[in-house]
Amino acid sequence: MSAHLVVGTQWGDEGKAKVIDYLCENIDIIVRYQGGANAGHTVKVGNEEYIFHLIPSGILYQNTICVIGNGVVLDPVSFMEEMDSLKERGIDAFERTILSDSLHLVLPLHRVIDGHREGLAGSKKIGTTGRGIGICYADKMLRVGLRMGDLLDETVLKNRLEHILEFKNAELTRLYNLKEVELAPLYDDLLKFRDRVQGLIRNTSFYLNEELKNGKKVLLEGAQGTALDIDCGTYPFVTSSNTTTGGAITGSGMSFQHLKRVTGICKAYVTRVGEGPFPTELFGEEGERLRGYGREYGATTGRPRRTGWFDTELVKHSARINGLTDLALTKLDILSEYDEIPICTGYEIDGKKIDAFPAQNLEKIKPIYETLPGWKTDISKARSLDELPKNCRSYIDRLTELTGVPISLLSVGPGRDETIFLS
Ligand code: GDP
Ligand code: IMO
Ligand code: MG
Repeated sequence: MSAHLVVGTQWGDEGKAKVIDYLCENIDIIVRYQGGANAGHTVKVGNEEYIFHLIPSGILYQNTICVIGNGVVLDPVSFMEEMDSLKERGIDAFERTILSDSLHLVLPLHRVIDGHREGLAGSKKIGTTGRGIGICYADKMLRVGLRMGDLLDETVLKNRLEHILEFKNAELTRLYNLKEVELAPLYDDLLKFRDRVQGLIRNTSFYLNEELKNGKKVLLEGAQGTALDIDCGTYPFVTSSNTTTGGAITGSGMSFQHLKRVTGICKAYVTRVGEGPFPTELFGEEGERLRGYGREYGATTGRPRRTGWFDTELVKHSARINGLTDLALTKLDILSEYDEIPICTGYEIDGKKIDAFPAQNLEKIKPIYETLPGWKTDISKARSLDELPKNCRSYIDRLTELTGVPISLLSVGPGRDETIFLS
């Protein structure tokens, strides 16, 4: 009777899916609890690479049940595309997926408004993934959202859509000068979707709590990262959900009492896609060099990721908010190219040292660095701590000391087996 949560500690793309896939071998149920198809979660097994957007990354194990919880915003088109493309690759995800009756649906109009607002914002844009995520969550909060369970009764669906379109069409035409959405084709598309998924729709909160009581092992898969959390991240340059531990509880409907472990996924350096402050960012050739070594291009949009050095303050912020029990350190192999590796150990603003990751003035931060010697050896074949060069072990020890969180796993390559399990 225990649940294990995996969250991103930085700005997303930390390698969560690689670690989740590794951890899922003995897991019965894996749960996505927030975000939507803005996520791009890469799993590599042998020569096969999979990028998941909505389907939990544990799906590759034959017996794992995948739950998409109430806190997720699900785009029916993306979901069906993902299901169908997995089927083409021989994985029947339908048989093992359960969808919350309370999750909100991303409608085509949400994508349209997302793209349009980003265009209007010009230099003040957020750099969203364009998947309609923020607009769908805003409608959820305004209580004009459409939930999965609304599809189950045709009269309810029609009435609900009429109400929603009254608001959204006024917004589309009067605020944005865009075309109205017609009810009939939207209704028909949603019914077609309903016909394909209705057998999967359930009260997932009840299901999860019951299965946990029955002794099942549950893993919760965070999307995005702590610095993209709507409350605790670098607002307004964040996503529109709670990516952190609190979001895992509300977004799954699971009692907090089941949660026994929270693993923070942490790249051995830092990346960010989209706009917003990034204290340890590298620019020009230096940034390009790290991007090249790490192949840092977005798994969802293909955009180049911004790159920078490991940031202790950010990970400490993440450890506090999430109650991290342990860290998994990924992409350690990428640093093998460097003679020296800087680590940001703290921040200064206007010449004064500050003691926590701030909510304001992030662009004024001057990182304080210490530099460790590199190891200049290929570590991708190492499978135990003893096989790592001394300087690499010193780098790991220093990160443990600085963050105050024990490291339970090291990732030295994208493949499932390119992993060093520590505890
Ligand atoms: P996620 O969103 O946190 O699941 O991460 P992404 O899938 O967006 O990005 C991580 C990228 O790094 C993917 O291409 C992974 O295959 C790759 N990756 C993960 N761990 C490692 C690692 O330890 N070393 C290397 N070289 N690549 C890794
Ligand atoms: P995974 O789960 C990295 C970023 C976008 C943008 C901001 C808001 O793969 O780690 P949104 O479309 O959510 O409204 O965009 O959040 N973003 C991510 N960055 N990894 C992700 O997911 C992200 N999902 C959203 O780039 O800056
Ligand atoms: Mg990603």
